Amino acid sequence: MKSYSVKELLEKQPLGDSVVVNGWVRTFRSNRFIALNDGSTIHNLQCVVDFENLEESLLKQINTGAALKVSGTLVASQGRGQSVEVQATDVYVHGGADPDTYPIQPKKHSLEFLREKAHLRVRTNTFSAVMRVRSALAFAVHSYFQQNGFYYMHAPIITGSDAEGAGEMFRVSVLDPKNPPLSASGDVDYEQDFFGKETNLTVSGQLEAETYAMGLGKVYTFGPTFRAENSNTSRHLAEFWMIEPEMAFYDLDANMDLAEDFVKWIIQYVLDNCQDDLQFLEKRLLDEEKSKPQHERSEMALIEKLKFVVDNNFKRVTYTEAIDILRNSKPNKKKKFQFPINEWGADLQSEHERFLVEKHFKCPVILFDYPANIKAFYMRLNEDGKTVRAMDVLFPGIGEIVGGSQREERLEVLQEKIKALDIDEKELWWYLDLRRFGTAVHSGFGLGFERVVQFVTGMGNIRDVIPYPRTPQNAEF
Ligand code: 4AD
Ligand code: MG
Repeated sequence: MKSYSVKELLEKQPLGDSVVVNGWVRTFRSNRFIALNDGSTIHNLQCVVDFENLEESLLKQINTGAALKVSGTLVASQGRGQSVEVQATDVYVHGGADPDTYPIQPKKHSLEFLREKAHLRVRTNTFSAVMRVRSALAFAVHSYFQQNGFYYMHAPIITGSDAEGAGEMFRVSVLDPKNPPLSASGDVDYEQDFFGKETNLTVSGQLEAETYAMGLGKVYTFGPTFRAENSNTSRHLAEFWMIEPEMAFYDLDANMDLAEDFVKWIIQYVLDNCQDDLQFLEKRLLDEEKSKPQHERSEMALIEKLKFVVDNNFKRVTYTEAIDILRNSKPNKKKKFQFPINEWGADLQSEHERFLVEKHFKCPVILFDYPANIKAFYMRLNEDGKTVRAMDVLFPGIGEIVGGSQREERLEVLQEKIKALDIDEKELWWYLDLRRFGTAVHSGFGLGFERVVQFVTGMGNIRDVIPYPRTPQNAEF
């Protein structure tokens, strides 16, 4: 007998065929109807165990969570809710699940509860849908770049540089924390450490990606990224995945065009390939929003919102224009912002980003030309001497989803910047070499993968779109 996945059986419907299907029991009703799910689709397969001599001991093992192998015939279903079902002739229990201790019972569990059961939560509809969409998005990322002449570059995970200059790094060391070797000055002597220097987990693969773009032309990275920022928010992880394309001969406009086209393309891919999961997630979100006050509910349902983003141009606005809008906005005048906007030069907080996107423009926004002193050292200085060619893509409900820039390609300007920020030029000798040998205009950006998964699935908390979230005080599993 041929083995099928639940998805194959529901799609191909080989009526009358003898089939074998494996999966986990979602529910078991009336000692007859098994709803079986194997993760291949959001839908369950109904298996009817209707034979006489099903042993009592076997029956007792068919509980929610048990892993089964069901053999039988695929027939048109008499019941409502499914078009086909399996008339079982044999049921083999791979492994039972004690109903008194199995935590994922067929009832509504809170997302907080499921976070504590992260090793089992993928057996729920919500998490299986999210993780299938996540997988599709990852495939879409590679497809987009591979179809558009980009090479996949593996940036190192262990680095000696702090690309973003924010100092939020996890140290990588084999020194004895209780008794590290000290140098003459009394500091820890990292020359005696594994790599002979201080090293950390990467906060961005950008600097290395730049070196490869200046040889391969167009590259992208897609890998784990680590930030030791103590932000307990619904949008921050200490370990997240970032996609960083980097392109030689691209200026900021070309960079913004690429970011917009790329993000739209991967969302369209999910619309085209994950309809069942999206419909489930949309319904989940509508149910969840029923308990919220009217003004907190989103104006669009999930799928409509995704289509809206794909079909409309992102609004491009300079930082200076944005500051004017914010300064004169109602919440600013009524002192509703936690961080009031008074002066040009203020860093934008997520409350400001969300105001611009959700209240003012009501569409995704690309802000560009930010003040130099609130952005990283590598961004290209504009002729005005005070702004840099930075861009952030802001999304409804999420805020910043992409951060990028045109890079400073002029050696002297970059050296001056490095000096002004007190960065050790010796650490960046190889990065400066790019400006010494065949320098050229180039640009790139970083997309936070979990943030885009959040947007596409409508999940409110970033901890629920990655299998095992790493956040302050939490590295279970
Ligand atoms: O804006 P960021 O810090 O930019 C960079 O790292 C650049 N080197 C990218 C580049 O130009 N190649 O981070 C890029 C994106 C953010 O827009 C956000 O979506 C995501 O990465 N991100 C995080 N996602 C989850 N948790 C965190 N702690 C994140 N920090 C940044
Ligand atoms: Mg940023």
